Amino acid sequence: MFATMGALGLAPTAQAAQREQPFRALSGSDFTLTGRGAAKVVVLGGGIAGLTTAYELGKAGYDCTVLEARDRTGGRNFTVRGGDTTTDLHGNRQTARFADGHYMNCGPARIPQWMVTLDYCRELGVPIEVFTNVNADAYIYNESTGMTKPERYRTAKADVYGYVSELLAKATDKGALDKELTATDQEKLVEFLKGWGDLGDKMTYQGGDFRGYSTVPAAAGTPGVLLGDVPSASEVFASGVGRYFSFEFGFDQAMLMFQPVGGMDQIPKALTRAIGAHRIRTGAAVSNITDKGSGVSVTYSQGGRTRVIEADYCVGALPPNILAKIPHNLGTGVQTALEAITPSSAAKIGLEYKSRWWELDHRIYGGITETDQDVTHIWHPSYGFHGERGVLIGYYNYDDDADSYAKLTPKGREERAVAVGVKIYGEKYRSELASSFSHHWRQTPHLEAAWHDTPGGPDDARYKPLNDPTGRVYFAGDWLSYTDAWQHGAFSSARKAVTALHARVLSS
Ligand code: ALA
Repeated sequence: MFATMGALGLAPTAQAAQREQPFRALSGSDFTLTGRGAAKVVVLGGGIAGLTTAYELGKAGYDCTVLEARDRTGGRNFTVRGGDTTTDLHGNRQTARFADGHYMNCGPARIPQWMVTLDYCRELGVPIEVFTNVNADAYIYNESTGMTKPERYRTAKADVYGYVSELLAKATDKGALDKELTATDQEKLVEFLKGWGDLGDKMTYQGGDFRGYSTVPAAAGTPGVLLGDVPSASEVFASGVGRYFSFEFGFDQAMLMFQPVGGMDQIPKALTRAIGAHRIRTGAAVSNITDKGSGVSVTYSQGGRTRVIEADYCVGALPPNILAKIPHNLGTGVQTALEAITPSSAAKIGLEYKSRWWELDHRIYGGITETDQDVTHIWHPSYGFHGERGVLIGYYNYDDDADSYAKLTPKGREERAVAVGVKIYGEKYRSELASSFSHHWRQTPHLEAAWHDTPGGPDDARYKPLNDPTGRVYFAGDWLSYTDAWQHGAFSSARKAVTALHARVLSS
């Protein structure tokens, strides 16, 4: 009955329960019904938050202009294909040489099912496909604990879960949990551990097919050969492989994950089309924001000329570290809040290969190899399977690791990343390489951050001047959300600003 009521809109549905907050899209009839008119809005920044602001306001007929400093929209949603050129703040100029159909997502690259990002993909007609975030056949490589070769995720998991299960079963058997659990609870627990850890009848872990095979089972006569050399519990815990397993339980990282077909920038491209390219000024760097009480005046430079745009309202959807550098008259509260939010580093290198040797030789189709090396994560592409070529992400790293790679030349970055990959995958990591392209967010003009640290969280009192409008200026961005470093944060923050601005216009 409850489900029927839900379908009739009389009770919350499972779908509604997962939504972050109710959002009612604006409509032209909002004004027809009230007799008021839409206002003129200048949006600073053509990233996801800025584009969403203009897109949603546009539904009610607002006259929006987006000022974007780079020559393209999307902000940190940045997909690089063959022919794309960047110059970083160190002056390194690179042109990608990836073959047609190949790309790297320098910024966002995966979308969980619960995020509003997928709703925008649906609404904008952006096709999606599965992004493989966890793969039993990908590797773990912990050199610092003495590993000399990589281990498959499935093997590492079998060993860790096997021994944890054995130890817990033994503790239960010895009565160590008698205070916590009834006899029946303990029976159920042991039953679970037996399956989870693949324990034998004696409740001991001795390896098994969860670990994998050195010769896989096939036709009669080939039963398969199990991977040998089952390590001891002590060796397994010492290897530190278990530290990677909680990742896949994360609310924002659990499979299934998705990506737009053909690159993440299909999202800003679709938003840009929906807004109308005539409303977006690229190469337009903001140099002043002045709230005049009755409106907002924004100064920007474009093509070497200084221009001014007047509007009724402004939405600042630039990163806070960039906004903090722009002169304004919004007061010290705004400035202090912007300066409290600090930028973080992250980087990726795309390694294009002449063959998909990781599929052919290693049987790895998508997913991530985790390492304790300075490359941190190595991503196998979740598109183009069985094709001729492919682009691996040879590092996705953060903080000091990202910055130390940024200090090298693009060639130096490639050499260092490849040297690490060779240790894990062998010589083909070097010999099959066709081209590379590296991207570092902290060193990217007009953005200078991969994401941000917002001390105290976005609802801390010090951010009130950003969460509430200050005069006629609103703010939006993932950095003002609980999902910083996700497009979901930018989308939901823009929705919040749009809702507040529209309510004000309707009541003014
Ligand atoms: N959201 C970013 C990621 O998934 C940080 O890597």
